[in-house]
Amino acid sequence: MTDQAQQPEGEVPDKPTSASRTTLSHIMTGSDTNLLGTVHGGVIMKLVDDAAGAVAGRHSGGPAVTASMDEMVFLEPVRVGDLVHVRAQVNWTGRSSMEVGVRVMAERWNESTPAQQVGSAYLVFAAVDEEGKPRRVPQVVPETERDKRRYQEAQIRRTHRLARRRAIKDLREKRAAEGIDD
Ligand SMILES: CC(C)(COP(=O)(O)OP(=O)(O)OC[C@H]1O[C@@H](n2cnc3c(N)ncnc32)[C@H](O)[C@@H]1OP(=O)(O)O)[C@@H](O)C(=O)NCCC(=O)NCCS
Repeated sequence: MTDQAQQPEGEVPDKPTSASRTTLSHIMTGSDTNLLGTVHGGVIMKLVDDAAGAVAGRHSGGPAVTASMDEMVFLEPVRVGDLVHVRAQVNWTGRSSMEVGVRVMAERWNESTPAQQVGSAYLVFAAVDEEGKPRRVPQVVPETERDKRRYQEAQIRRTHRLARRRAIKDLREKRAAEGIDD
């Protein structure tokens, strides 16, 4: 952690992972279901985005917008009556962006078993100013060994996201330069 008073102008002090870690809990109701009678994936994705947004806002100390959501995985169906816990934390920070990792757990309404993991996702949020322009975020300081592993894995995903975007951009520019119009 860096002392705020020692920060150069324009810098923001670091923050530990635990400062913004958040759990959002919600009981699923009949209005959350799809045609199969289980909970609609979009309902879960909304909870994931809400929890991740709360974490990004807490960590960055202001507004933050969803830039991307990837690797949304649904492991098990969620049912009406289940108590869903959506746990989110900042895994990694860049200059103005944060990767937030989310784990979705379900407590089955009709079973006395521990909460079961039913999904997970990784979202990138960008902190923005009043004009919607990216602003600097505090660097996250991983505390536990698990936080450190998540930080390292997030760096791998960041590298892959940038490489994929660059490769697709290059391909499109090459095709355009060859006069291919699609
Ligand atoms: C996200 C947004 C602020 C990025 O603005 P921009 O002018 O492209 O700014 P930049 O290119 O400097 O990107 C800002 C940061 O976000 C990251 N970023 C931008 N788009 C991204 C994407 N698709 N995936 C992952 N990261 C992304 C950049 O890598 C950069 O990170 P860094 O500062 O840590 O290096 C802008 O695209 C936006 O406002 N999008 C709409 C957001 C929104 O409305 N979300 C709700 C969905 S309805």
